[in-house]
Amino acid sequence: MTIIRSTPPGGGAMPDSSAITTLRDISLASAAPAALRAAIQVGLPEHVGDVPVTIDDLAKSLDVDGAILERLLRALRSYGVFHEDAGGIVHTAMSRLLREDDPQRLKYWVLWVTEPWVWELWPDLEDAVRTGRGDFEGKYGDRFFSHLHAQWPDSTEIFNRSQTELSRLTSAAIAETFDLSGVRTFVDVGGGRGYTLSTILEANPHLHGTLVDLPAAVAEPDLRLRPGGALAERSQVLAGDCLVDIPVKGADIYQFKSILEWDDEWTVTALRNAAQAARPGSRVLMITNLVDDSPEIRYATGIDLLFLLNTNGRRHTRKGVTALVERAGLRLESVTPVPPLLHVVEASVPSA
Ligand SMILES: C[S@@+](CC[C@H](N)C(=O)[O-])C[C@H]1O[C@@H](n2cnc3c(N)ncnc32)[C@H](O)[C@@H]1O
Repeated sequence: MTIIRSTPPGGGAMPDSSAITTLRDISLASAAPAALRAAIQVGLPEHVGDVPVTIDDLAKSLDVDGAILERLLRALRSYGVFHEDAGGIVHTAMSRLLREDDPQRLKYWVLWVTEPWVWELWPDLEDAVRTGRGDFEGKYGDRFFSHLHAQWPDSTEIFNRSQTELSRLTSAAIAETFDLSGVRTFVDVGGGRGYTLSTILEANPHLHGTLVDLPAAVAEPDLRLRPGGALAERSQVLAGDCLVDIPVKGADIYQFKSILEWDDEWTVTALRNAAQAARPGSRVLMITNLVDDSPEIRYATGIDLLFLLNTNGRRHTRKGVTALVERAGLRLESVTPVPPLLHVVEASVPSA
């Protein structure tokens, strides 16, 4: 005797299964970054090499529980991170990006956006929607970057490495977009460890560059910018807070890449400080991932919401960013795409 009906209850009217499937997947999507993070932390990407390896052997070499490792890998494989063939586990294009030695590495980026404090911030999204602002300061008693540098040194290191990883993916395209033949002095404000500045200096042998960032970021700059480094004679590295003052006066270009995505008031202050440090005719460049013109809309909107919660910031729209440039008293010159993801907003400093 069969007890299973051949038609569904209700006479066959089934809800749209793709909507159900997709919404269920989205509601559990946090399992994916959690699995990525666990894989990195136990050293999985480093222990999968060029030949397939069994889960038992992996578990032994990693000194982890084999049954749970199998479950972790099953979850990751469902996203195309690692693959299992007849011989065992092998890398995929995505899992290889988690390795320390991969030239397009995104290991520290994954760790950065899955740090424990990030998981603590997400529930605050509801309050932000109600109140109209993120309140990191209310929760932790300090501004995001001050708190990060003072209280979370390991996270600061992960952050700085993650920014270098992202810069490795974009710096060549940025250097190609700029025609700096008539420019002598270039300042990268909030330039992290200076990977992008180094790439721009290498592409422009006539150029002198200055890296300005908070002390924790410039403590260990790119090797090329350090004393004895290949670019040392054409560069300087300065600690500075662009919300207070930009310590290089009269330069031809002041660049802000992926920094002015915090509180709008801070953005206007930083741009005004650049205008004050500059001379009439100097250029101010904002390099950013516009949220209304992004081919990777989930990446752009995800970061937009995270910025809301950590710096009360945002990914800008084209209209929003140009309004801030004008509020700061700069003259908008152009907005130019830098494939695949970024835009350069170019402004000039008007005569007083
Ligand atoms: C998202 S990262 C971007 C780093 C770099 N421009 C890049 O694209 O790789 C933002 C940078 O702004 C720096 N920063 C934050 N607050 C700052 C301030 N008040 N003055 C100068 N730099 C600051 C951070 O230390 C960090 O290096």
